[in-house]
Amino acid sequence: MKSSTSQHQLQFDILVIGSGAAGLTLALKSADFARVAVLSKGDLNQGATFYAQGGIAAVLDESDSIESHVTDTLSAGVGLCHEDIVEHIVAESAESVKWLVEQGVPFTTKKNLDNSDKSLSGELSSLHLTQEGGHSQRRIIHATDATGKAVFETLQMRAQAHPNIELLADCTAVDLVTQSLEDGSGSVCVGAYVLNLESGSVDLIKSKFVALATGGASKAYLYTTNPDGASGDGIAMAWRAGCRVANMEFNQFHPTCLFHPHAKSFLITEALRGEGATLELPDGSRFMPNFDSREELAPRDIVARAIDHEMKRLGCDCVYLNISHKPAEFLAEHFPTIYSRCLEFGIDITTDRIPVVPAAHYTCGGIMVNKDGKTDIDNLYAIGETSFTGLHGANRMASNSLLECFVVAFGAAKDIQSKIASTTHSIDIDAWDESRVRKSDDEVLVSHNWDELRRCMWDFVGIVRNDERLQRAERRINILREEVQNYYTKHRVTKDMLELRNLALVSELIIACAIARKESRGLHFTLDYPELAENPTDTILTPSAAGEAST
Ligand code: FAD
Ligand code: SIN
Repeated sequence: MKSSTSQHQLQFDILVIGSGAAGLTLALKSADFARVAVLSKGDLNQGATFYAQGGIAAVLDESDSIESHVTDTLSAGVGLCHEDIVEHIVAESAESVKWLVEQGVPFTTKKNLDNSDKSLSGELSSLHLTQEGGHSQRRIIHATDATGKAVFETLQMRAQAHPNIELLADCTAVDLVTQSLEDGSGSVCVGAYVLNLESGSVDLIKSKFVALATGGASKAYLYTTNPDGASGDGIAMAWRAGCRVANMEFNQFHPTCLFHPHAKSFLITEALRGEGATLELPDGSRFMPNFDSREELAPRDIVARAIDHEMKRLGCDCVYLNISHKPAEFLAEHFPTIYSRCLEFGIDITTDRIPVVPAAHYTCGGIMVNKDGKTDIDNLYAIGETSFTGLHGANRMASNSLLECFVVAFGAAKDIQSKIASTTHSIDIDAWDESRVRKSDDEVLVSHNWDELRRCMWDFVGIVRNDERLQRAERRINILREEVQNYYTKHRVTKDMLELRNLALVSELIIACAIARKESRGLHFTLDYPELAENPTDTILTPSAAGEAST
């Protein structure tokens, strides 16, 4: 542990680390019985939530059923979903949407699309439903093609207005503070050390309960649809504190990220394929019918692998998504964000094909939790993309992620409410100690290692894997992690250094899981074990006292 000169100490009932869909939902659901702080390491809108396009999967239509949504999720998850969790989350989907509508999220309604009435209707049956891969029918509610922005802005506004919620931007959690339980049966979380980017100090935030809502780790890969902060901080902090993590080998690659030298991380929503867009090779021919009977609407693992296969076979830089057969007004109305962003790059989606490539998109594995987000450590919760509930199995179905954020945050709030009266603050916590470190005068190690790590993961731990590539990645990432850890112990912390430290650890966990899985399933495809194993199990890693992984 390190100690800074001008430290502050803050104290809350609940410390929520992360201001995306999961974190803001937990804060709003708890604020009537607790004082809550919500941290974001940058601006509050910097998580993946803000960028979500397609929507939220929910059973709302009379022709739909919980059984059908469950069946589709289990099928996309290729035998690894936890059925009880899938049933629970899907059963709660209508309740989540109802709550979001009550908060004021301006979802697209059928009337909006008729252009006759732009007002929000409280009737769930009035919401417009779209379709995405893996879903056997239309069940995705959305706010045109900018669902995440609509959800984030509404929840943020609500949280800002609540007297019991404090929103703290530019605060990066460094590590959790835990204490051993008196009976020796485990540990309890009592707060976190947090780097305040404005003051430069590392402050102690004490809290009766802590929730990690830090999002995913797709930044481990060179090409990703995710914002810069997706560095797996929550997974790394939980692991260092002693939590198990699971199924880190299942990194989801979204099939269609815009391929353009200046379009950093811009996603082309799967909902485009839901409305009839086709995937084409440079010569204009379709290829998905050769890979799956569901064609362009097959689950993501299958579509991304098909694109990867065709790009390697033909040596081409990208494939193309074509929706130009739809009327121009339809496209401008349903997909205004994509329409205008593509135009900025000279691509008119009403007449041109869109160049696309797969990119790292979602971390299906994460911190092991139960249905209410409870981790292995008392009073520590993990919710949203950082967690592993068992919902997604070997491949997440489109638009099930936001749904999981809401349902599990609801459960965590309830669980905390049942315990809060009997929980007291810990009094005996050391301040951060940085008496033995100095300011870094050589940031190139951090920037160099960022690039090296992400390229290594892309090249050796990508869509198609084999043992040799994984072992090569393991050796290189081990060296990088040692270097970064050595640098961390000698220097004052910075946001970039902390993210790299977390990403190096999370990359090690991804590789350890990938090496442990001796089969191909869902998002994990290895040329050395191309078949499905008969009795699939989760890959569970348990930290040893030395921080080493054991399966
Ligand atoms: P995030 O929204 O990622 O928020 C993470 C928060 O944690 C941020 O506030 C960040 O600042 C904070 N944080 C991280 N580390 C620290 C730290 N050390 N200290 C302090 N704060 C920290 N899913 C769907 O279901 N439907 C969709 O249509 C959809 N579209 C998507 C489109 C894109 C482009 C992307 C990238 C993802 C999409 N997803 C979609 C996935 C979904 O958006 C995410 O899984 C979900 O938003 C994650 O929410 P979250 O609350 O867990 O984390
Ligand atoms: C998309 O809109 O294609 C992304 C949906 C998701 O990640 O669930």
